[in-house]
Amino acid sequence: MLVSAKEMLDKAKAGHYAVGQFNINNLEWTKAILATAQENNSPVILGVSEGAGKYMGGYDVVVGMVNGLIKDMNITVPVALHLDHGSYDHCFKCLEAGFSSIMFDGSHFAIDENVAKTKELVAAAHAKGCSIEAEVGSIGGEEDGVVGAGECADPNECKAIADLGVDFLAAGIGNIHGKYPDNWQGLSFETLDAVQQLTGELPLVLHGGTGIPADMIKKAISLGVAKINVNTECQLAFAEATRKYIEAGKDLEGKGFDPRKLLAPGTEAIKATVKEKMELFGSINKA
Ligand code: 13P
Repeated sequence: MLVSAKEMLDKAKAGHYAVGQFNINNLEWTKAILATAQENNSPVILGVSEGAGKYMGGYDVVVGMVNGLIKDMNITVPVALHLDHGSYDHCFKCLEAGFSSIMFDGSHFAIDENVAKTKELVAAAHAKGCSIEAEVGSIGGEEDGVVGAGECADPNECKAIADLGVDFLAAGIGNIHGKYPDNWQGLSFETLDAVQQLTGELPLVLHGGTGIPADMIKKAISLGVAKINVNTECQLAFAEATRKYIEAGKDLEGKGFDPRKLLAPGTEAIKATVKEKMELFGSINKA
């Protein structure tokens, strides 16, 4: 059964570890992440961007697929199905379709509008027992057409959004989606610390989990980060394993052209990446 992400993240914040949000794109991705979570007794959050939702056929397909896999794979660890960087309209669509968690990304609005829309969505999500993440200070880089400049959030604005009753908060601290450029300045722990001082027990979220050095991840967790999002690293692992398989000519041997065989190396690569992240984030055996 899908669960809200609130309880697992409150536990993570109190226990000084983080739960991974791994974004899904298709059946193979979803199976790989769920299997890895179960094998490692870890809670997990499945992230769905609006683009990925559309690609998979729509939010009803996503909810049906994920619920079906949880049942047929006998998944017993806590799993949240979460809209990633949702617009106002799509947050409502996902709540309607049966997601257990949403993120409203109002970071591109002026703070007053972000506050007003977040407030409305907090009420809508909680009425359905779902959790809600909000964002202050845009996350840099580009993800599925959502572009941000990588700013550092204003801690007072974070407090204003936190006070609306959101369950967890993404604050920009110089993090960006995708690969980090060579001249990246690193995470702003000063900003993170200031945000945590003002938001207390609220679990904080670190987007752009791909390519952040392990010591920075650990420090971020020590300063209140309880959810870390990873997408690009799974994509890279999947693409690399598939490329190697094809370059070795294996797709032309025997029944290697069978999609089930063709996608198997990439699926295994995702499992390995997810396990590595769960170890780093400390979520293993925390289900
Ligand atoms: P990466 O693609 O950099 O791993 O970021 C994922 C993310 O933050 C999804 O919201």
